[in-house]
Amino acid sequence: MSHADDNAGTRRDFLYYATAGAGVVATGAAVWPLVNQMNPSADTRALASIMVDVSGVAVGTQLTVKWRGKPVFIRRRTDEEIKAARDTKLDDLVDKLAENDNLDAASDASDQNRALDEKGEWLVTMGVCTHLGCVPLDHAGDFGGWFCPCHGSHYDTAGRIRKGPAPRNLQVPVVKFENDTTIKLG
Ligand code: FES
Repeated sequence: MSHADDNAGTRRDFLYYATAGAGVVATGAAVWPLVNQMNPSADTRALASIMVDVSGVAVGTQLTVKWRGKPVFIRRRTDEEIKAARDTKLDDLVDKLAENDNLDAASDASDQNRALDEKGEWLVTMGVCTHLGCVPLDHAGDFGGWFCPCHGSHYDTAGRIRKGPAPRNLQVPVVKFENDTTIKLG
């Protein structure tokens, strides 16, 4: 994708976000100041990427940010949550693929292939149910991960679908640690 295409895509997404948030239809010119206000951390060099300060995210909690018009879950997992995810056998999973944009498409859905760091403390996924796109609730459901109230999909603490109609694990977007306290999306 060319740089120009990148910017075009981002601009559309931002317009959608700003319009949805404000509840009005606005022109591009009027929208940009609003967008800048709403996304102070947006990386203006590469508009498709954003930096997220995660220094305030406590263990056992989740930060939800909006990126490219969609929610992204940034969860800092407890030792118990990591253990539950890592003790799960691949055979018990509905979707056996990592669904991780940072890895080869054939990678398996082990927790190590889903978590952001080696220890597995950080898990970053799209906050979009793979059934019909609702936003799942965190720390809920039969597997302690997420529960989608729309039609009852249960995700585990690695964001993997375990029960209900959703066909795939919550998608892991392109993400990395920029430094100790900053995560880069995109
Ligand atoms: S949209 Fe989540 S279960 Fe249907």
